Amino acid sequence: MKILVTGGAGFIGSHTCVELMKSGYDIVIADNFCNSKRETIGRIEELGGKSLRLYEADMLDLEALRKIFAENDICAAIHFAALKAVGESVRQPVRYYHNNITGALNLVTAMNDAGCKKIIFSSSATVYGDPATVPIKETFPLSAASPYAQTKLVTENLLRDLCVSDPEWTCILLRYFNPVGAHESGLIGEDPNGIPNNLMPLVVMAAQGKRQLKVFGNDYPTRDGTCIRDYIHVVDLAQGHVAALNYLKKCAPGAEAINLGSGSGSSVLEILNAFEKAVGVKLPWEMGERRPGDVPQLYADPSKAKELLGWETKLTLEDMCLSSWNFANRQG
Ligand SMILES: NC(=O)c1ccc[n+]([C@@H]2O[C@H](COP(=O)([O-])OP(=O)(O)OC[C@H]3O[C@@H](n4cnc5c(N)ncnc54)[C@H](O)[C@@H]3O)[C@@H](O)[C@H]2O)c1
Repeated sequence: MKILVTGGAGFIGSHTCVELMKSGYDIVIADNFCNSKRETIGRIEELGGKSLRLYEADMLDLEALRKIFAENDICAAIHFAALKAVGESVRQPVRYYHNNITGALNLVTAMNDAGCKKIIFSSSATVYGDPATVPIKETFPLSAASPYAQTKLVTENLLRDLCVSDPEWTCILLRYFNPVGAHESGLIGEDPNGIPNNLMPLVVMAAQGKRQLKVFGNDYPTRDGTCIRDYIHVVDLAQGHVAALNYLKKCAPGAEAINLGSGSGSSVLEILNAFEKAVGVKLPWEMGERRPGDVPQLYADPSKAKELLGWETKLTLEDMCLSSWNFANRQG
């Protein structure tokens, strides 16, 4: 029995494949490499200690997905494949809705036809919008402030409706907070095609002298005025997927949303300080205006993940900074 990992060549997918393979799972990856590189596949195999099956396939191609299920005995899917840049989604909503929602529709159609009815979906803390309080529990009201977040909400609803319509479906909706860091080997990490959007890759590029770093606003109602987020090491997050898969195999059918976060928030300035301290480099940065759409603080209540999955984060901010730096310097 194999696990289909869509978007398995990407940042979170690649680390998850390594952890799954180390836990004994056989992997099939479907990826179109629109935001990842082919050489990552060999690195996953090296780190996971075995070979995997790769399909260069687009989630928008239903027949390609059907072929994957016809050629492999797949017992569950982990669905990472999506476009993920919030700002870009505001400028290109049709592309985002089409890629992320049609992609999910095609996947569950192919799964349904093949009788494979267990899925873990990559959702996001963006589905909480601007929450009234923190830490955020799974029961908080949901709202979406961008087309990207809408695609996550719509897909969550699709999976919930699927579970209502067919009691054989089991869906785990993992709501990630802010994944950063890289594998300790430096072989895999966040390596997007084009200019990154997230804080840590921008911090790393600033430390390498490749870009000027701008902090977006210091007048938020937080302890130092900059935005607070819940940063989670990507290897901890990957292990959260192994725990979720083990849970998926034994839990009752239905849809379950689970936060994957550390439970503590760090401000942008705290991240810059932690990076400078861990890596020993002075960061060049300047203060800028607020960025539209940023909410002051988001951090998880991760107690449901601990209770249901027996999972919690282990790695520190220092680990996140050092591994990001190590990975970036290996890429040159
Ligand atoms: N990184 C984050 O900050 C974050 C936070 C919350 C949720 N998520 C979600 O987690 C998932 C993985 O994120 P990531 O950071 O690893 O992103 P990523 O861009 O590194 O990986 C996504 C992978 O999916 C592939 N892909 C995209 N569209 C595809 C399509 N139509 N067909 C086939 N492959 C396709 C890309 O080539 C890439 O390899 C995404 O669904 C993302 O929305 C990410």
